[in-house]
Amino acid sequence: MGMQLPETGQRWEQLRAEMAAMRGHDLDWKHGRHGAYVWYAGDELEDVLREAFGMFLVENGLGLRAFPSIGRMEEETLATVQWLLSAPEGAAGIFTSGGTESIFLAIHAAREWGKVHRPGAARPTIVAAHSAHPAVSKAAHYLGMEVVRVPVGADYRADVAAMETAITADTVALYASAPTYSLGLVDPVPALGEVAARHGLWLHVDACVGGILAPFVRQVGHAVPPFDFSVAGVSSVSADLHKSGYTAKPASTVTFRTAELREFARYSMDDWPSGLYSSYTFTGSRPGGAIAAAWAGMHFLGQSGYREIAAASMRAKAAIAAGVAAIPGVIVHGTPELWAFSFGSPEVKMGRVAAAMAKRGWMCGPTTSPPGIHVMCTPVHEPVAGEYVAAVAESIDEVKAGAAPEAQRAAYN
Ligand SMILES: Cc1ncc(COP(=O)(O)O)c(C=O)c1O
Repeated sequence: MGMQLPETGQRWEQLRAEMAAMRGHDLDWKHGRHGAYVWYAGDELEDVLREAFGMFLVENGLGLRAFPSIGRMEEETLATVQWLLSAPEGAAGIFTSGGTESIFLAIHAAREWGKVHRPGAARPTIVAAHSAHPAVSKAAHYLGMEVVRVPVGADYRADVAAMETAITADTVALYASAPTYSLGLVDPVPALGEVAARHGLWLHVDACVGGILAPFVRQVGHAVPPFDFSVAGVSSVSADLHKSGYTAKPASTVTFRTAELREFARYSMDDWPSGLYSSYTFTGSRPGGAIAAAWAGMHFLGQSGYREIAAASMRAKAAIAAGVAAIPGVIVHGTPELWAFSFGSPEVKMGRVAAAMAKRGWMCGPTTSPPGIHVMCTPVHEPVAGEYVAAVAESIDEVKAGAAPEAQRAAYN
């Protein structure tokens, strides 16, 4: 069984045409119909990323002895991220395949660090808010650790007092998000930093969504609370290049306050026929193209390019948030600082609103607590903000009239 490969190779022109046709059924992400997954800031940047990726398509980031070019681009990209995250002298990062791997490596490092600094932790545990991304639970699952999820406060952010109460002798780490995926809220990192310092715990900040662009959001005049290494007590920060860094997938970073902390992420062994194998990442072979695209994309944009993306994303967010909040009965959940948020209405089932939106060509991710629809604004959402808001108003009317399809199940993917 399975699918047999054609006996002779097909012409690329024919394959390309077939692939383009397959694409015809995908979501129209260039025009902002998506609520997640895609970070696109124009064809010029896309061309740079494609060409840079293509230039280093074959090179392998596992073999930096062979490819000092990849090593240099990786080091420089990590150093730029350290600068963006206000990391102190001596900080050290790892270039990874995505937020999930960055979080995995931070949690792995925290577990290994705990063996030295929290020797009483029999079942190493991470205390996180209920709103934390599943990646931390996935990491803990693979690593034989536990995540205690603590209900969020009335403002939907991590409840610092409740998280402190949840600390036990098994706790090795606290976890914060900047921002959370679902509601786009930055957790109170300074207060969590104090708790971590008081209890001698590792503090990881998941800034996978916010880390790269938030500094530019500040530069264009919006207040973003401290969430990075400027906060004493933060041990590690994950920040994705393939999200708000607008570079090509797969690309993320995890930065540690010191090179000593990064050592806890390393895996080494030499009991096999080819000598020492030593690596910081979960993956072995690594796409040189993703590292090259990250380096090229960041330098192509420069600070001014990121400021433009930040300003456009924040204008899109302001227009959509104000637009939906003007619909009777609709509220935005909490006070989101960045370009992501969620909105809901106690008068209608939001899963049905999401289904009615899908019928109109808008992919929406429903949230469950509180019930709502998640919005992740990027520059392409700015020109369609009015259309989006009109579709939400129509969809709510349709649900109220009992004419909308069955509720869309809340599912992340
Ligand atoms: C807050 C947050 N953390 C982690 C992740 C995981 O990132 P990735 O899908 O790149 O592995 C995501 C993905 O959306 C996220 O929103």
